[in-house]
Amino acid sequence: MEEKAENWIWICMVTVLWLIYKMRKKQKEDKEREIGVPRGNSGWPLLGETLDFIASGYTSRPVTFMEKRKSLYGNVFKSNILGKGIIVSTDAEVNKVVLQNNGDVFIPCYPKSITELFGKNSILQMNGPVHKRLHGLIGSFLKSPQLKARITRDIEASVRHFLSTWLEKQHSVVYLQDEAKKISFEVLVKLILGVDPGEELNLLKNEFEELTKGLICLPIKLPGTTLYKSLKAKERLKRMVEKMVEERKLSMEKKEEKGFPNDAIDVLLGNADGAKQPLPYDFISGNLIEMMIPGEETVPTAITLAVKFLSDNPVALHRLLEENLELKQQKISCCEDYSWTDYLSMPFTQNVISETLRLANIINAVWRKSLKDVKIKGHLIPKGWCVLASFTSVHMDEENYENPYNFDPSRWEKVGVAVTSNTFTPFGGGQRLCPGLELSRLEISIFLHHLVTTYRWVAEKDEIVYFPTVKMKNKLPINIMPLQQNPLIQTKQN
Ligand code: HEM
Repeated sequence: MEEKAENWIWICMVTVLWLIYKMRKKQKEDKEREIGVPRGNSGWPLLGETLDFIASGYTSRPVTFMEKRKSLYGNVFKSNILGKGIIVSTDAEVNKVVLQNNGDVFIPCYPKSITELFGKNSILQMNGPVHKRLHGLIGSFLKSPQLKARITRDIEASVRHFLSTWLEKQHSVVYLQDEAKKISFEVLVKLILGVDPGEELNLLKNEFEELTKGLICLPIKLPGTTLYKSLKAKERLKRMVEKMVEERKLSMEKKEEKGFPNDAIDVLLGNADGAKQPLPYDFISGNLIEMMIPGEETVPTAITLAVKFLSDNPVALHRLLEENLELKQQKISCCEDYSWTDYLSMPFTQNVISETLRLANIINAVWRKSLKDVKIKGHLIPKGWCVLASFTSVHMDEENYENPYNFDPSRWEKVGVAVTSNTFTPFGGGQRLCPGLELSRLEISIFLHHLVTTYRWVAEKDEIVYFPTVKMKNKLPINIMPLQQNPLIQTKQN
């Protein structure tokens, strides 16, 4: 009898607490609605809607989380993810305003593990004039025709080298994701640190792999945890890079003439913008490492997914092959080297890349924090709240793209579809627009050109996973064969 009474007391207490929680939540929501905060659901206490958000990342349609709420509350809604009150925007115009108002209204807002690893002086986190200067310096270098001309040779050398190693494995399986990663890392390290393939590159690769493991993990910094190991790897990397920067500074001082920078070390040491204050060594080394992070996984993922989509779409692959064979034959008959403009001026190849970036959504969204109350299209984003500007939702919206789940490179040939519009933002926008944009397109184009004009392949069954980052579940195994065995190239080359 006594036990029964005790149970009743517990039930009553939990019910009362629950009712109080619900009442408070409703009062808070009414108040938020009154001042214009978008409608939505804050989910469970502490957890918010995090579990739903993560679970949809594990499905083949990660955009389901957004779609469900969009249908209930509209294009912009409120949620609570990873312990933070957040406004989610699936609206291209709202996203544009968020991207364009970087620094004064919105600042980057990353999970704790990332902020720990980057440090506050990283290009990815800093704001204001120093960010502007750093973005300008690195952007003008990466976009310059001189760099593109030189890096084209380096990319070709890496691609040709790795493709030639596949010949030894004729009729065997190649894990495309791994191969693409090796090529991209080689190119990235040459570009940022000027390091050629060899022992030093392997050492950097190992440390860098350790560092990136901590980007998405529990933010606990105790010995043995992923974050702790990553921070240690960053310290070791920093020491290696600091040494390279010091050596370079010495050799620059000995040189009388300043030529075009060879890599990002030259750019950051060289004071190319003529600023009075040279950048401190420590700042330079940290940023050189951090600049590699956005490029390290994105380009190989784009390459891998392009091959995956093409494997599933023989018509698109055939058009790509025709366009690339034409260029190859033209180059052979004129005994000419390829220029970077050759690769970038193949329209169908560029459409394949755009369509891959749209469908793959490698960077699915950007996270920002608002520094003040701000109203966009009637939606209030209160000071201190985070905004998640979802690129995936815009890229997969039927209003913006017909049959958005189809891989259809020819959609980019239609009038009105533009790679520079608000509805296509794989590289972000505004002041933080990816400075590696053109370079990424160049690298993917070179890879695709040499792949399709050297080999044909059959991809084994594999699927795309979207959480925590986009990749192929089984690293995309492909069975490769030299192209000479392909009837299309025989008729073309005869
Ligand atoms: C397909 C490949 C790539 C994609 C999809 C991509 C995407 C992006 C996106 C969406 C942003 C904006 C992030 C934000 O607004 O917070 C960004 C920034 C950045 N990206 Fe890329 N990226 C790619 C390749 C590269 C490469 C190859 C490099 C380096 C060589 C690079 C370097 C950077 C840097 C340094 C930033 C930070 C810019 C800043 O905050 O001022 N990215 N990237």
